[in-house]
Amino acid sequence: MKLWGGRFEKATDRSVDDFHSSISFDQRLAEQDILGSIAHATMLGEQNIIPQADADTIVSALAHMLEEVRAGTLAFSVDAEDIHMNIETILTERIGEAGKRLHTGRSRNDQVALDVRMYAMAAIRTAQENLRALIRALLSIARENLYTVMPGYTHLQRAQPITLAHHMMAWVEMLLRDIERLNGAYARADSMPLGSGALAGTTYPLNRERVRELLGFSRITNNSLDGVADRDFLLEYLSSAAISMMHLSRFCEEVILWASAEFQFIELDDGFATGSSIMPQKKNPDVAELIRGKTGRVYGDLMALLTAMKGLPLAYNKDMQEDKEAFFDAHDTWMKCLTTFTGMMQTARFRREKMARAAEGGFTNATDAADYLVKKGMPFREAHEVVGKLVLHCLKDGKAINDLSLAGLKEFSPLFAEDVYEAISILACVRGRNLPGGPAPEAVEAAIAQAEARLERL
Ligand code: ARG
Repeated sequence: MKLWGGRFEKATDRSVDDFHSSISFDQRLAEQDILGSIAHATMLGEQNIIPQADADTIVSALAHMLEEVRAGTLAFSVDAEDIHMNIETILTERIGEAGKRLHTGRSRNDQVALDVRMYAMAAIRTAQENLRALIRALLSIARENLYTVMPGYTHLQRAQPITLAHHMMAWVEMLLRDIERLNGAYARADSMPLGSGALAGTTYPLNRERVRELLGFSRITNNSLDGVADRDFLLEYLSSAAISMMHLSRFCEEVILWASAEFQFIELDDGFATGSSIMPQKKNPDVAELIRGKTGRVYGDLMALLTAMKGLPLAYNKDMQEDKEAFFDAHDTWMKCLTTFTGMMQTARFRREKMARAAEGGFTNATDAADYLVKKGMPFREAHEVVGKLVLHCLKDGKAINDLSLAGLKEFSPLFAEDVYEAISILACVRGRNLPGGPAPEAVEAAIAQAEARLERL
């Protein structure tokens, strides 16, 4: 018999039970559901809406069920449809009459909104911890590589020299924003919806503030329709996840490139790479590729919920049950990607000599050669032209700018003097870029200190 079976003359078709039952995935909300019910029952007793003795019986039976859930010993049934009715059914089987009073002044609509909010708040904190761990790993790579020069790229063409530390700090900045973005999502999830009822509140004298306090929320929702119809907080979680996965995916793309024989900037630890079943020489960056691949899946979860919500009239509609699988899938996927990626980066070896050689080839100091001429008085546009010709000449001879003799350089401009070699050495090019945010070792050291302080505050 369904908890809502009163007005029905016929049992639900088996195919419908299988179709609309959500217990297979919403049992993940068991703890939140029980904690919410404990707070609700406590308040019902305090307000004399149900007898205090019944409230006490409910609370202690629920506390026991919570232990069983944590131990993995509470079994659920598909007939009871979802986690809310499973918990209530088991409770009533155990304590009889009193259990039937629990749902007074409450609907599954505000109940599920509460459970998902609580789950989302915990998920956000987990995501932030995992992002933090990755940031710490990158900060330690940065600290060790303040002087590791490498080419910076635009269009994947060598552009200007930077350092590995500077490059890592770019990723740190993005990941710090990912943490901040989640703070916004948390702030909006942190609103207690019980008391919204099915849609129009309730006539019982509930104490919403008391339930808020018992559950540790910062505030209560302001409108009963919105309280049950809002899934923005999940969409914010999913969009934060999608953006962060985009960051991870881009980072993975670099790792994949860097691990290739063409770059050789990084050597992945054997524990974080895989082999080929046919080609004995292969060491593949599968982890990075899989993260790049799974990014599409998290985007899909975001799209699924955005699309499920876009046409729904107020307030609750069953379509909204689709929120949970998208949310759980995105959360699980993102967390697995984050933790595995962190392990991969912590164990990777950077090939500093290859990076330095790449920075020295490819004319990454051409801008500095032009800037050198500018400092000697030549207008920049003219200096650009002179160095462009110089590069063309070097390309034909297979040389770098600093391989030319001073006499050879003077053929392109009489302004070149002996001090040019120092001025366009790769390390000098990096050191010279010492504005805040630049790659010079002292600028990156300052950026690292700032990032550490920000991480503390977040
Ligand atoms: N299992 C439902 C969900 O996840 C719970 C709310 C059901 N409410 C209702 N009126 N059918 O959305």
